[in-house]
Amino acid sequence: MKSNISLLPFNTFGIDVKAEYFEEITSTFELKKALRSGIRPLLILGGGSNVLFTSDVKGLVVKNAIAGIKVARSFTNKVWVEVGSGVVWHEFVLWAVKNGYGGIENMSLIPGTVGAAPIQNIGAYGVEIKDVFVRLKALEIETGKLYTFTNKDCRFGYRDSIFKREAKGKFVICSVTFSLTRQAHQINVSYGDIQKTLEQNGVKEPTIADVSQAVVQIRTSKLPDPSVIGNCGSFFKNPETTTDVLEAILKNNPTAPHYHLPDGKVKIPAGWLIEQCGWKGKRVGNTGSYEKQALVLINYGGANGKEVRALADQIIDSVKLKFGISLEPEVNIL
Ligand code: FAD
Ligand code: EPU
Repeated sequence: MKSNISLLPFNTFGIDVKAEYFEEITSTFELKKALRSGIRPLLILGGGSNVLFTSDVKGLVVKNAIAGIKVARSFTNKVWVEVGSGVVWHEFVLWAVKNGYGGIENMSLIPGTVGAAPIQNIGAYGVEIKDVFVRLKALEIETGKLYTFTNKDCRFGYRDSIFKREAKGKFVICSVTFSLTRQAHQINVSYGDIQKTLEQNGVKEPTIADVSQAVVQIRTSKLPDPSVIGNCGSFFKNPETTTDVLEAILKNNPTAPHYHLPDGKVKIPAGWLIEQCGWKGKRVGNTGSYEKQALVLINYGGANGKEVRALADQIIDSVKLKFGISLEPEVNIL
């Protein structure tokens, strides 16, 4: 076990804090051994692409590299694939596309690991992991016992699951099983610029590989590459509000983007709200809001977590003041 280790290479925001103790694990066996050290609190880290460190981390940081992708069951039209929680999510997507398995191509290029994907029910371009999720296996930190969580058990919601609520910090996810189509794939190109990008690529009848490639192209054009500019993707969730609040906004901003939800609420893109408050492309010290996507907070280099959090708080206050809407962070602030 290592001690006093810099977490700079282990978080995509590029924040330089130290872990008191640090261990990389490649199997459930090694995870159990790390748990038996008794060092607490325990923080499990995947790709570090959804965490903002605001201070040094006490206790044990476990960097998860549990490997393995295997077809667990084969049906006529679908397969169940069990994936080690330390597998890089996009590598799993590429594996699925290469093998002709459909269902996750719209979630191409989302950074991070398979094991972190259920935590916030990752999603992009009209698909969330809850749509393909069968079950996961997780070790309870306190007892070392292995539990299975079904789709229903996980209580998935928009960027939400039981692992951000009652089960927060209590389990380490070891593997996740997905149901993917083998044929009659449900090609989903209705969201955002996918259709337009496919047309530009000269694709008329898109395959899952074409959709994956289009999503990669769109994401690369909009989102900063964390290996170049530190960031965690969307810093806030897109807020859900009432039609009354929307009506009030539309009076002054008739073209405000919004999406009606089945439950009668309305979703307003946080990026638009933040841009309207004048933050887009604005730099404050070593941090700021990204020039191409206001919802993404970035590290210009050398930023610390406290200044990023201070900027986030200022953004929350100004959106609240101008629109009466409370933004909630999507990123886990530690
Ligand atoms: P980490 O950042 O390492 O961990 C996140 C949280 O999960 C922490 O609380 C951690 O303790 C916990 N955790 C991690 N692994 C486990 C485990 N095995 N068991 C229990 N708890 C665990 N997200 C989207 O949903 N959609 C997007 O389109 C999207 N785009 C992004 C684009 C960029 C450029 C970036 C940088 C991020 C983006 N994200 C997006 C956010 C991020 O990719 C996801 O949240 C991803 O699932 C995080 O994975 P990770 O392995 O890096 O998790
Ligand atoms: N917009 C602005 N200004 C901006 C950014 C966005 O006005 O600076 C408005 C535009 O009207 C645009 C709309 O917001 O059409 C939506 O923007 P975009 O398509 O970029 O998507 P988003 O709502 O900002 C969400 C997810 C992303 C996911 C994309 C694609 C959240 C919090 N974010 O972003 O997920 O990749 O949709 O599905 O739901 C993440 O979670 O980290 C993430 C990147």
